Amino acid sequence: MSSLLVTGAAELVTWDPERPVLVDAALVVEDGRVAWTGAATEAPAADEVLDVDGAAVLPGFVDAHSHLVFAGDRAGEFEARASGRRYTAGGIRTTVAATRAASDADLAATVDRLLAEMRRQGTTTVEIKSGYGLTVDDEERALRIARGRTEETTFLGAHVVPDGTDPAAYVDLVTGPMLGACAPYARWIDAFCEDGAFDADAARAVLVAGRDAGLGMRLHANQLGPGPGVRLACELGAAAVDHCTYLSDADVDALAGSDTVAGLLPGVEFSTHHPYPHARRLIDAGVRVALATDCNPGSSYTSSMPLCIALAVREMGMTPLEALHAATCGGAGSLRRDDVGHLRVGARADLCVLDAPSYVHLAYRPGVPLVARTLVAGA
Ligand code: NIG
Ligand code: FE
Repeated sequence: MSSLLVTGAAELVTWDPERPVLVDAALVVEDGRVAWTGAATEAPAADEVLDVDGAAVLPGFVDAHSHLVFAGDRAGEFEARASGRRYTAGGIRTTVAATRAASDADLAATVDRLLAEMRRQGTTTVEIKSGYGLTVDDEERALRIARGRTEETTFLGAHVVPDGTDPAAYVDLVTGPMLGACAPYARWIDAFCEDGAFDADAARAVLVAGRDAGLGMRLHANQLGPGPGVRLACELGAAAVDHCTYLSDADVDALAGSDTVAGLLPGVEFSTHHPYPHARRLIDAGVRVALATDCNPGSSYTSSMPLCIALAVREMGMTPLEALHAATCGGAGSLRRDDVGHLRVGARADLCVLDAPSYVHLAYRPGVPLVARTLVAGA
């Protein structure tokens, strides 16, 4: 068993409840796990030493919401929004057509390219959804490709109703044969509960069918306007409900009284010109929040958790420390993981070393590539 000492950290964020941020600190990795943290002057010897020379060392980002299995892009739609065109769920069908026409190798290459982008920006755990296939074979293919690359895979057959299909018949397909084919490759089930996608009854049917097949539940809700999705997710005990852009007081109360994590995706509001979600209101009410990219070609074509942190601080009322927490621990909570998102003893040694002395620089220096190095399980 070889050990690695990471030392010289001006700041080391562990999320230990007693002392979440250590200064002049070090960390020891053994067998891919954090074995020790503390003052650099008290660090034990190890086989190898990495001196980060005054940098900040953070838990790797946990991006708990992405749609990486797709083909083509929708830059034209993005450009039109700058001239006032509205974002609608209907654009998803454009990507469905391109994705169905693509080869397995092309889809896999896109996923690998985006995962490499994410890694360079400090992300060490990624959730990947299907949802651009919308046939039994195309959804199964998307999940097979995702499963080869992450354990956090999500079956999103209920993304939109494909053109020319009866909505009720499509829900029967998703909850029947499509779920049967996809469940072996998925950890989670998801649905898009929104006008133009699935109503609350359909979303409930999809989530319950997934739960009965052994999958954990997550939901897209309240992205484009107010709606019943957030309360539905809380009532069902879903692990996460993502977007949460348009919330009533009843929605906030439901979240505060539940274990459901609210996933906030500011890349979407950046790209779609909707107002940013009100993170301050959620945190003050006691809601657990996560930040994620929602990386997809329609509503948020960014792979950058540092961008999401900067937007959360500037536009959503979060402090830099809250935003970092939401991008690490919050994402882990959304995925019901306790081995990632923090650097307490026993955690998987997933960490990122900044080219800066403090986590504050992630928001303070927006758009600057500040991640100098990313380690996954200590490697
Ligand atoms: O999370 N909201 C639904 N799905 C994606 C957008 C997909 C698309 O526009 O292609 C999202 O924003
Ligand atoms: Fe999404």
